[in-house]
Amino acid sequence: MPTALVTGANRGIGLAVARDLARDHDVILAVRDPGKAPTIARARVEKLDVSLPESIAACAARVTGPLDVLVNNAGVYTGSPREIWAVNVRGPLLLTRALAGKLAKGARVVMVTSGLGALSSQPESLVRKLQDPDLGFEDILALCEQPPGGYGPSKAALNALMRLFARELPEARVNAVDPGWVRTDMGGPGAPRSVEQGTASVLWGCRLPAEGPTGGVFRDGLATHTFEATPEAPRSDRRGPGRRRGDP
Ligand SMILES: NC(=O)c1ccc[n+]([C@@H]2O[C@H](COP(=O)([O-])OP(=O)(O)OC[C@H]3O[C@@H](n4cnc5c(N)ncnc54)[C@H](OP(=O)(O)O)[C@@H]3O)[C@@H](O)[C@H]2O)c1
Repeated sequence: MPTALVTGANRGIGLAVARDLARDHDVILAVRDPGKAPTIARARVEKLDVSLPESIAACAARVTGPLDVLVNNAGVYTGSPREIWAVNVRGPLLLTRALAGKLAKGARVVMVTSGLGALSSQPESLVRKLQDPDLGFEDILALCEQPPGGYGPSKAALNALMRLFARELPEARVNAVDPGWVRTDMGGPGAPRSVEQGTASVLWGCRLPAEGPTGGVFRDGLATHTFEATPEAPRSDRRGPGRRRGDP
């Protein structure tokens, strides 16, 4: 039975991804509070706070491997930029690095990203840094210390991080997958997509065939430049009634 690890697997998209993977994987539910973790057949719980490097190191040490699927799903939308980047960027970087040696040949690594991470929406200085061909892991860690913005920029950096890992792990299929705007605690009740729809987008990256793509950003199995090529409706038209935050 293949093994999968899902971060933030106690609620929202992470929980739904873990439930589906548990149909045919031994799943590790990596959660901040194991006491509140849901019970899923064929799943075990590991304590993991992705904002804490020591928690990542301890969790990774407890994983024996080989790991066939790694889903970096845990994410936050609010908080200070440093808090957001610690979870959305540094967490996936340190966890994937810590588990790299335990990944099975051909493992699927999924970074759960957002349309708000599109480079076209980021400050020019960040775009320049992220597109620098010499960008390395240490540069991204340095950005986490002085982030140039909150949620959207963090997901742009996560996409760049995904490309670094795709290069570093050529035998794995490493991709960033956008679930779209989904009705979870983060997305709010006015989001247009169900948890099932968002989850299906993420599962596509987990269940790629061996010859599937690596190093891309996808939504619903389509490369996101497909979306960027078509002008989207103005953002104000995409918000549900009463929605105060942006689409995550
Ligand atoms: N919902 C959307 O519309 C949308 C759109 C685009 C992208 N996304 C992305 O999809 C992913 C899942 O989002 P969601 O909508 O399912 O959000 P959610 O319902 O708010 O769930 C977030 C999950 O992340 C976990 N988490 C937060 N901080 C953590 C930390 N420091 N260590 C470990 N786990 C932590 C939470 O655990 P606790 O219960 O312990 O807080 C929870 O399990 C995120 O990466 C998000 O950015 C969501």
